Amino acid sequence: MKMGRSRANELSQERGRAFAFGGLSPSLALSLALVLTLVDVPGVTALDNGLALTPTMGWLHWERFTCNVDCVEDPENCISEQLFMQMADLMVSEGWKDVGYEYVCIDDCWLASKRDENGRLKADPKRFPSGIRHLANYVHSKGLKLGIYQDVGTLTCAGYPGSYGYYDIDAKTFADWGVDLLKFDGCNSKDLESLVEGYKYMSFALNKTGRSILYSCEWPLYMRPFQEPNYTEIRQYCNHWRNYGDIFDSWSSVKSILAWTASKQESLVPAAGPGGWNDPDMLVIGNFGLSWDQQVTQMVLWAIMAAPLFMSNDLRHISPQSKSLLQNADVIAINQDPLGKQGYRLRKDEDFEVWERPLSNLAWAVAVFNQKEIGGPQNYAFSTAALGGGLGCTPACLITRILPVKEELGLYEWTSQLKVRVNPTGTVLLKLQTFQQHKSFH
Ligand code: GAL
Repeated sequence: MKMGRSRANELSQERGRAFAFGGLSPSLALSLALVLTLVDVPGVTALDNGLALTPTMGWLHWERFTCNVDCVEDPENCISEQLFMQMADLMVSEGWKDVGYEYVCIDDCWLASKRDENGRLKADPKRFPSGIRHLANYVHSKGLKLGIYQDVGTLTCAGYPGSYGYYDIDAKTFADWGVDLLKFDGCNSKDLESLVEGYKYMSFALNKTGRSILYSCEWPLYMRPFQEPNYTEIRQYCNHWRNYGDIFDSWSSVKSILAWTASKQESLVPAAGPGGWNDPDMLVIGNFGLSWDQQVTQMVLWAIMAAPLFMSNDLRHISPQSKSLLQNADVIAINQDPLGKQGYRLRKDEDFEVWERPLSNLAWAVAVFNQKEIGGPQNYAFSTAALGGGLGCTPACLITRILPVKEELGLYEWTSQLKVRVNPTGTVLLKLQTFQQHKSFH
């Protein structure tokens, strides 16, 4: 049962084919039941390292730069220390850091093909001539944090030396270098037991170093084909965890992640909370594959899902429109809301989905997603009584449209109809502020 890269890809495709939408009944009674199940489950214990109290924000190289190791032909885009230094520079100079993006993360293909004579990992000497410790110092000097990648098995997914048999030594190496986050992949494990034990062992090994190292896992993704993941357990070891196959720079990929997440929301949503999050993979906003409306959909739904926000794009070449979306303070505030509850799909009609997320201070984020891929903008009307488990607009609420364009929509009562106009494959994001009935003391 060795799981190499191609097996993992096959599995995610199998999973892709097995999706079913299974739409929820739009009736208020059912919505209420769902809201109560999803919102009132008490949070399970999280990995106690004090990290990821809100979803992690940063930049990760994989989707945009993959395993490009050709620094001769493509020096600007190969996986090298220069790439990460440039991204760190831009994170500061272009305002990314100011809005919350903090971790600059290396993915696969940074390693030399062999460990050193003491069994320690080393970076490819041509592409990282100054070494990872130097890169970490550089990133820290900018007020940012450095993330790195390894794998629980014998080899990484791209075939570089994995951590199996070296968990303690690798954790210590990362701590010595000043690394702040470890993305731990799940390729090339002997069997399910070694996968699970390896993920747990590495969590302890990181903890033992005494350095705060955020731990990003792919444990449930690799486990699911064999066994339903136990999120109560996973949450005790990891700060976030990938559940589903790799994101691609395409609308079909974003859509499949959303459909899968909604289909599994009864188990995923209660697992998320401060310290531990479901990770639907990187933001591909600012690349080649998504239209403007699709980029809005990704940003909004990743905020509703309380997802870690790891951009995988080229910050040296990004349109002002994509940049303003990724830096939109209102949508980031929803993603980072301190209540720390993941949102869910509330209803699904033929062409529309309504998602909502409870926020702190009696507020709600509501997303209306138009799945129709033909025609122009569509109107969608629904009753405010359905929102927030029937309480979102009881007795009234103030509604602001956040995206695609910000506008105060005014006061709504619980008997109101709300009408939004949504572009094909686009999403409208609303924020509702509930008014409570104030008790009179006289
Ligand atoms: C995949 C992982 C990706 C990326 C890649 C590197 O399995 O899910 O996010 O890290 O390996 O080879």
